[in-house]
Amino acid sequence: MSADDFIVTPWHVEGDIDYDKLIKKFGTEKISSDILNRIKKTTGEDHFMLRRGIFFSHRELNRILEDYDKGKKFFLYTGRGPSGHTHIGHLVPWVFSKWLQDKFGVNMYFQLTDDEKFYAKPNLTLEETSKFAYENALDFIALGFKPNNTKIIINTKNIQTLYPIAAQVAKKINFSNTKAVFGFTNETNIGMIFYTALQSAPCFIEDKPVLIPLGVDQDPHFRLTRDIAPKIGKQKPALIHNIMIPGLSGPGGKMSASDENGTIYTTDSPNTVKKKINKHAFSGGQTDIEQHRKLGGNPDIDVSYQYLRIFFEPDDNKLKSIYDDYKSGKMLTGELKAILIEKINEFLAIHQEKREKAKDQIDQFIFEN
Ligand code: TRP
Repeated sequence: MSADDFIVTPWHVEGDIDYDKLIKKFGTEKISSDILNRIKKTTGEDHFMLRRGIFFSHRELNRILEDYDKGKKFFLYTGRGPSGHTHIGHLVPWVFSKWLQDKFGVNMYFQLTDDEKFYAKPNLTLEETSKFAYENALDFIALGFKPNNTKIIINTKNIQTLYPIAAQVAKKINFSNTKAVFGFTNETNIGMIFYTALQSAPCFIEDKPVLIPLGVDQDPHFRLTRDIAPKIGKQKPALIHNIMIPGLSGPGGKMSASDENGTIYTTDSPNTVKKKINKHAFSGGQTDIEQHRKLGGNPDIDVSYQYLRIFFEPDDNKLKSIYDDYKSGKMLTGELKAILIEKINEFLAIHQEKREKAKDQIDQFIFEN
């Protein structure tokens, strides 16, 4: 990998991602101002994650919107590979899905792939990934979803529903297709080789078009799904992609649930959040205060600023004044971090309460075979 290069696959993200290049590489479409206007017109709102390009790319979102305007409803689907506790980066597509669900009045499916993470992570047992599936489900529910229009699918529990669909899919994907997309070798376990069929299955769980909000690293699975969909008499899933959320240590990779200090978990205490941000959040500031006042900081590479932009400060005016003050040197790194710490802890206080309540609701969400 050369210095300006990057890797984006479902199991490995590395380097400083150039999203325009990624769009070309993956063959997706950039979200145009036309599409933004169309969504604004239909929903009556302008979501900051769209406006700021946190969701930056799509496949056939225009078809979903056109059909919707003609009265044809779609459903939403996204998921999570339960390899650890939920971190704040995971919440981006889930929060956005909740907004889409409310605005469009559609059903939502959330897949927890305990099998996938068992196959993909040498050190995780199936018991552990199932436990994390439960923990992750609590975070999902805590975002306000309702069981009447939202179902959680756990692969090892709901296999009876998934398998007949996965079989249809699996018959149309051959080894060379999946090898070309994921770089599998003779040493790859066959669970991984089959896995795309299982991640594809929820796309066809209802006989309606599906829209999938997802981190762009998950696109390769659905490229395969889209290729085979017509072969099994189904419509291709439409996608809307979000950027990868940087870990605390900065650009060059996504937040990884396995790097304790590089990640803010939804279960972290206020004090842990404070310590992690102060100690580990990559700063765009200068080496000392004097230099910082003189030269100013760089919000574009500053992780604390990026978290505000991506998730924690929806108000554009407030965000802009933070940007300007940090850039001019008026705001110091410690002050910027203090703003973020307060925002995260405010959010987590409420989230953790709802997360507790979710323990009594989870049964209503689990898909019934
Ligand atoms: N493979 C995804 C992960 O590792 C989990 C997942 C399953 C998913 N179905 C999905 C993600 C649909 C996005 C959309 O996190």
